This record gives sequence, C-alpha cells and structure tokens, in this order.
Amino acid sequence: MLGPVRITSALVDPALLDLPWSTPLEEWPAQHLVALPQGISRHIVRFVRLGEYVYAFKETRERIAEREYDLLRALERIDFPSVEAVAVVADRQTEDGEPLESVLITRHLQFSLPYRALFSHTLRPETMSRLLDALAALIVRMHLTGFFWGDCSLSNTLFRRDAGAFAAYLVDAETGALHTSLSNGQRGEDLEIARVNIFGEALDLQAAGLLHESIDPEVVCEEVVQRYERLWHEITYEQAVEREARRDIEGRIRRLNELGFDVAEVAMSSIDNGRYLVRPKVVDAGYHTRRLLRLTGLDAEENQARKLLNDLDAYRAESDLVDEQQAAHRWLTEVFEPVVRAVPAHLRRKLEPQELFAQIIEHKWLLSEQAGRDVGMRNAVQSYLTDVLVHRPDEQAILGVEVPSLS
Ligand SMILES: Nc1ncnc2c1ncn2[C@@H]1O[C@H](COP(=O)(O)OP(=O)(O)OP(=O)(O)O)[C@@H](O)[C@H]1O
Ligand SMILES: [Mg+2]
Repeated sequence: MLGPVRITSALVDPALLDLPWSTPLEEWPAQHLVALPQGISRHIVRFVRLGEYVYAFKETRERIAEREYDLLRALERIDFPSVEAVAVVADRQTEDGEPLESVLITRHLQFSLPYRALFSHTLRPETMSRLLDALAALIVRMHLTGFFWGDCSLSNTLFRRDAGAFAAYLVDAETGALHTSLSNGQRGEDLEIARVNIFGEALDLQAAGLLHESIDPEVVCEEVVQRYERLWHEITYEQAVEREARRDIEGRIRRLNELGFDVAEVAMSSIDNGRYLVRPKVVDAGYHTRRLLRLTGLDAEENQARKLLNDLDAYRAESDLVDEQQAAHRWLTEVFEPVVRAVPAHLRRKLEPQELFAQIIEHKWLLSEQAGRDVGMRNAVQSYLTDVLVHRPDEQAILGVEVPSLS
C-alpha cells in the first residue's frame, strides 16, 4: 500500500508510514480519523489519530507545506502560542502514479475551540468581547516578536479557555514571515487584513443567525483594531517622568506585568530640566505563566496562572511560609492536587486541570459571598461538581471522545 513518500519530521513514529498516503486525504477511511470541531479552510484538513495523540493533517502544495513547517518551528523556538508542526509528507502519488499534494502535520491543540464552535450557541456580547481581547493580545504579541501574519482571521485562530477569558493561538502560518522587527507600516497592513477578514467572518455568522442581535459586524472588526492599538500603546509609549519619580516607572512595569508582559530593561534618555523619557523594553508575554511554571511546574494560560498564583500567594501568607519555593511545593501537593483528584475521571475531560482549578476557586468565592463566610474548599468542590461541571460538554479532544463537527 505504501508508495515511496518522503517524510521530513521531528516525530519518530513508524506508524506514520502505515497511513494510506496514496489516497487523497478527503477519501481516507474513517478508522484513521477523529471527528473534532474545525474551522473553515480552503485546504482539506483532517484529524488523524496516531498512537495516543491526535494530529491535524492539511493537504497543500509542497513548497507551502515546507514553508509553513519551518515557520511554525521558528515560532515554537520563541515560545509563541501557535500549533506545533511535526512533519511534512511529500512525493505522494496514487496507485496509478498520479501525483498527490503534500501533507503538513501539526499536533492537535488540546481543548482548543475554533470560533465557530464557540459561536454555535449564539455568543453573548461579553464572550465576544473576550474573544476579541484574546485575538488583539495575540496580534500585539506577534508584532512585538517581529512576526507579520498576513492572514489574521478568526478561522486562523484557535481559542482555549483561560479562567473566564480566552487565550488565542495561531493555527495558520501559511502567509506569515518572521522579521527582526516590524515597521509601523507593516503593522498597519497586518491590522488592515485582520479588519477585512474579521468583517467578512462576522457577516457570515450574522447570515447564519449566530450573531447576537446587538453585535454589529462593522463594530466587531473595528474593536479588534482598537483593542490592539490600546494595548500596543500601553506597552510601547514613551513616558516623560521627573528625575525623582521612580515610582512612576515601577507602576508602569507593574501594570505591564498585570497585562502579562515581562519587561527586560527600561530605556531612559534625559530631556529638559531633569526630566527623563522612559520606554520599557517588553520582551515577552506570559509573565504569570512563567512564574507559575517556575514555582510549580504547572503549565497554564496567562489568566489561569494569575488565579492559581493568587491562591498560592494567599496560601503562603496564611501558612506563614517565607520561602516561596517551599510554599509552592506545599500548595501543589496539599491544595491543587487534592482538588483535581476529587474530580471523577469521567468528568476530567470536560476541562483541563488548570482551568478546572481556576473555576473551582471562582466558584468557592461566589459561594462564600452568598453565605457570608468561607465555605471551604471541600464544599466548593462538591458543589462545583454537582451543580456546574456535570452540565458542561466535553471539551478535551482525546481519543475515543467524539465531538460533533461544527464547521
Ligand atoms: N493543530 C491543529 N489543532 C486544532 N485544530 C487545527 C489544527 N490545524 C488545523 N486545525 C483546524 O483546521 C482549520 C483549517 O486549518 P488551516 O487554517 O491551517 O487551513 P487553511 O486551508 O490553510 O486555511 P485558509 O483557508 O485560511 O488558507 C483551522 O481553522 C482549525 O480549526
Ligand atoms: Mg486557515
């Protein structure tokens, strides 16, 4: 069955060779496929299971597949939130010797939701607003690293839940290019493309009756651009401060950290009568994510990390532990892990552990507010399981879990 295909891969899995490469992706037998929600695309995209993982296979021209593969690998090296490329399969042909397009393989992003899946129950305006925030933050982060997207749209983005908000991931890098930095012109061009694409997508949603009546497509696409501009300004503006006003600079750095950005250094130049012009050099997003990872080894999205860290810091204060590392270790084994373990296995695929924990502490806070006292973790977990979690759909894209296709 195997033709002489050529595989460029970081994934050493011989099972890759046993796939029906001489058949167009569209006709692959169901035994290899997993039904998961996916966005709209020009190319044929299928989810394929290999061993214990699920991968996204995209059929496209060889040059394009290779370029996207290289670019996704480069983005991975700088820790950018994008899907992970694992292989390119080229030189395919049918049994009759007809050439077939190459396949780009990426790892399926677990718990990810294409926007169409999020819109499937007519999105509330607040949820829409959070999606737009996540997308704007993704573009800002992208531009800070010098990446020009060239095809920013909702369908080229995947969303993961992030403690009441969303974290956005880039899924389609086909048109992208990584530069050392971007000019204002390049940024403007990228935003204009985003605006046009998102306008079209919002119109489609409206035509399908999926857009809340209070949401105007024209406003939606403008909003992304405005949110981007606001965030970009906050991160990059030059600030004039008095020589003595060190606190202003500290306040700015703290605000940037709150927004999730790390500041490596602050560039200062003196202007007139003792005043300084200050510009922080923002190196990276994911401030809370990195702090949580460093302290606990848990990998979480930015807002989840912020919530988990708040809980950890409170725990540390309550238990009078001075050493941060020691407190983190105790919190992990005495608070975080017992809570996650208290969730029965069949409910765990509904949300990932970090999101579960973030939602439980939020739930505990709500219950305690209602009761006018601290209800305690045990009660909060029980109530969350019986009143909230059982009613949620499964969101983990794992083997054997069939999620209806929503594209
Ligand atoms: N690694 C992945 N994890 C999860 N979903 C994925 C992954 N790769 C692709 N998808 C899904 O498949 C859809 C199409 O992928 P992609 O955007 O790369 O295809 P495309 O044909 O290049 O799109 P376009 O029409 O924008 O050129 C995405 O919107 C996403 O929903
Ligand atoms: Mg696409």
